[in-house]
Amino acid sequence: DNKTEKLLRGRLLSFKSSPTGPNDTSAYTYEEDGALLIRDGKIIANGIYAEVLTAASPTAQEVDHRPHLLLPGLIDTHIHFPQAQVIASWADQLLDWLNDYTFPAEQKFADKVHGARIAKGFYDALLANGTTTAVAYCSSHPNSVDAYFEEAEHRGMLMVGGKTMMDRNAPDALCDTAQSSYDESKALLQKWHGRGRTHYAVTPRFAITSTPAQLEAAGALLKEHPGCHLQTHINENHNEIALTRELYPEAADYLGIYEDFGLLGPKTLLGHCIHMNERELGVMKDTGSVAVFCPTSNLFLGSGLFDKARLEGAGIRTAIATDVGGGTNYSMLRTLDEGYKVLQLQRQRRHPLETFYWATKGNADALSLSDRIGTLEAGTDADVIVLDAGATQPMALRMETVETLSEELFLLQTLGDDRSVVETYVAGEPRKGA
Ligand code: GUN
Ligand code: ZN
Repeated sequence: DNKTEKLLRGRLLSFKSSPTGPNDTSAYTYEEDGALLIRDGKIIANGIYAEVLTAASPTAQEVDHRPHLLLPGLIDTHIHFPQAQVIASWADQLLDWLNDYTFPAEQKFADKVHGARIAKGFYDALLANGTTTAVAYCSSHPNSVDAYFEEAEHRGMLMVGGKTMMDRNAPDALCDTAQSSYDESKALLQKWHGRGRTHYAVTPRFAITSTPAQLEAAGALLKEHPGCHLQTHINENHNEIALTRELYPEAADYLGIYEDFGLLGPKTLLGHCIHMNERELGVMKDTGSVAVFCPTSNLFLGSGLFDKARLEGAGIRTAIATDVGGGTNYSMLRTLDEGYKVLQLQRQRRHPLETFYWATKGNADALSLSDRIGTLEAGTDADVIVLDAGATQPMALRMETVETLSEELFLLQTLGDDRSVVETYVAGEPRKGA
């Protein structure tokens, strides 16, 4: 359909692999005067503007984004949709924060009208910040999952999510049962997984709020639907770990619980992974499970420092995420900045080429979705953002002295936020303000 053909002109940056250092130009492609040709929601050509132009139909609509950068849409691999009104709550550490703020807020999602209204604001915030794909926990109410995916469908976004399964240690109004959580998750999965761009994630909250029977149900569901993701939390906070070990005294350790119920594998996303023992590292590697780093949340809740070098040194796949509302910002740029500081404290600071890889192709690889998202490669979905490293006065001042792409990326990471996102294209459609 030529009517929908779009030609986006700007400076293109897309990653192929994780840059090994500042000079690893083989890890990415950068086109100074580049363009993307988009048709029917897909990138059909990319490269030098003059060359891509020859492939475009005469009626293609050209949008000139020079001198800005065009990157793949940012990916947030761990966020809580029902915590849009929990973010910025003054609380003690994890378990108190959950009981005092999070569980009360999540109860409101029994009401579909509430969920639908919050979904609008939630997606507005993602798109304003250049996030085109997120992996979210919904509440334990099936209504909240419908609200979440209906809004994703409305905006044409590739979103992953699922009903939080929780059958103990929470208010009655949030608790399901092992059987009802299985039945409801299965029905939601059958309704939403693979419908348009949406993907279902089996979502037991964490071991504290699940009985063994419920984790068994989650394992059964995952086994029946191996194409789905599984997401949960692990080793975030010392009090959480102590209570978990009391509830599951038979397990070898925290990860051993999830291992015993068959919850681990290459589509398993484990939030936090801060306090891991050596055995757990080995099991993570052997199962291909992903460790998800949530820097703003880990600092805000005082949880601890994610040890990226230790995890990756053990051969474990990693991803990075906001974890709103334990996390304090929807922006993946702010998240990369805080992540940099967490790693800097441990003498593990990373180069901006590596961090921008992480938030795009790296997170897409962690989700096993890089055939669709995370790059600007032809044939993939046209989720593209336009970034301006001089968006604010302090940024513009610093930009005067920037000489290299790496410096520009580091400026975007350190000072950037939603103001640096000029536009967010979802499947080729401009959606930042819409
Ligand atoms: N562990 C269990 N539930 C949660 C949650 O909602 N947020 C965070 N950060 N950790 C959790
Ligand atoms: Zn979380």
